[in-house]
Amino acid sequence: MAVSKDQILAALAKVPSPNGVALPDARVLSDVVVSDGKVFFSLTVDAAAVKAWEPVRKAAEDAVRAISGVQSALVALTAERSGASGSQPQRPVGQSAQRHAHPADQVPPGLPGVDAVMAVASGKGGVGKSTTAVNLALGLRDLGLKVGMLDADIYGPSLPKLLAIREKPQTVGGTRLKPIERYGLTVMSIGFLIDEETPMIWRGPMVMSAITQMLREVEWGTLDVMVVDMPPGTGDAQLTMAQQVPLKGAVIVSTPQDLALIDARRGVAMFKRVNVPVLGVVENMSYFLCPSCGTRSDIFGHGGAQKEAERLGVPFLGEVPLHMTIREKSDSGRPVVATEPDGPHARIYREIAAKVRDQIKGSAQVAPKIVIEA
Ligand SMILES: Nc1ncnc2c1ncn2[C@@H]1O[C@H](COP(=O)(O)OP(=O)(O)OP(=O)(O)O)[C@@H](O)[C@H]1O
Ligand SMILES: [Mg+2]
Repeated sequence: MAVSKDQILAALAKVPSPNGVALPDARVLSDVVVSDGKVFFSLTVDAAAVKAWEPVRKAAEDAVRAISGVQSALVALTAERSGASGSQPQRPVGQSAQRHAHPADQVPPGLPGVDAVMAVASGKGGVGKSTTAVNLALGLRDLGLKVGMLDADIYGPSLPKLLAIREKPQTVGGTRLKPIERYGLTVMSIGFLIDEETPMIWRGPMVMSAITQMLREVEWGTLDVMVVDMPPGTGDAQLTMAQQVPLKGAVIVSTPQDLALIDARRGVAMFKRVNVPVLGVVENMSYFLCPSCGTRSDIFGHGGAQKEAERLGVPFLGEVPLHMTIREKSDSGRPVVATEPDGPHARIYREIAAKVRDQIKGSAQVAPKIVIEA
């Protein structure tokens, strides 16, 4: 039988908050998301009282897990701006965020067993970041690397669809999650835990703690490289990544249109600002290849990304055509590099992957600057 929200609230009623008030009456509870036996919610508390709340967070998680039919529970503790802390931004204070907090200008601890973490990003949405990330990850796999993929797009996770993953991750030892294996990639996405249709109202701190948990509390195993599919833009998630893991670098995806290039510039600038090396720019939907006659048309005006890359002094990694096969394969969960490995598109992605691999090898780890915005 499906677990109901009322059952969750009834269980939480038995969990006292630090001042003795039952949790549902303590005015700290976010909306409770229940989906397929997976439960997720957050407790928003005063930053000054975080220590006192950590055992409550744990007790809430245990109480929910004890309900029959609940497969896993994720309770995040998030700090409310407290009166005293004035202009400081909200930040995650969940168990993992606290445990892994690190002072500014020090390299944050790496992920045990993971050699390199790289981000695939863009300044604006819909440029083909996720498609590029998946095919690039598969290209790296074809070069003999052991590759993981983390979907950091909490608002609109894509990996369940792009890799046709319907199964839910298993928990290990009650608290850690086992990622899903697909096409030789080790994959984790918030979309595996929450249904695509579930409307998600995430607040900044929840986004950050969800990403931190997916980085730190997943059994990633031994990986040569972890490819992170970033959400569009230059917001919280990007900064969290830069602050929570030692990023080897970022690949920026852009379309040839000018507007996208302005956004790409913003993406490049953001990573530079947090001291993360830009591994290069990929021009996606670079030109149109007619599927029937093979004629090439530069419908968006071609070559802009290459010029821009030169101007910004970052490597140009390659151009991917706008092609029906890439879209169809991508949208049906059978990425072109995995299912048409001998085709022309797979070759392009593998060439890009080879350049990325060389860039990763060459890029030294630098300490990310912690940017605190007023
Ligand atoms: N080279 C390409 N040729 C044809 N279609 C493509 C290509 N690259 C991406 N697409 C299609 O464009 C759409 C958007 O791609 P994708 O989801 O990868 O973009 P995104 O930048 O990750 O988007 P979001 O910002 O929403 O995360 C998808 O339908 C995808 O199949
Ligand atoms: Mg995407």
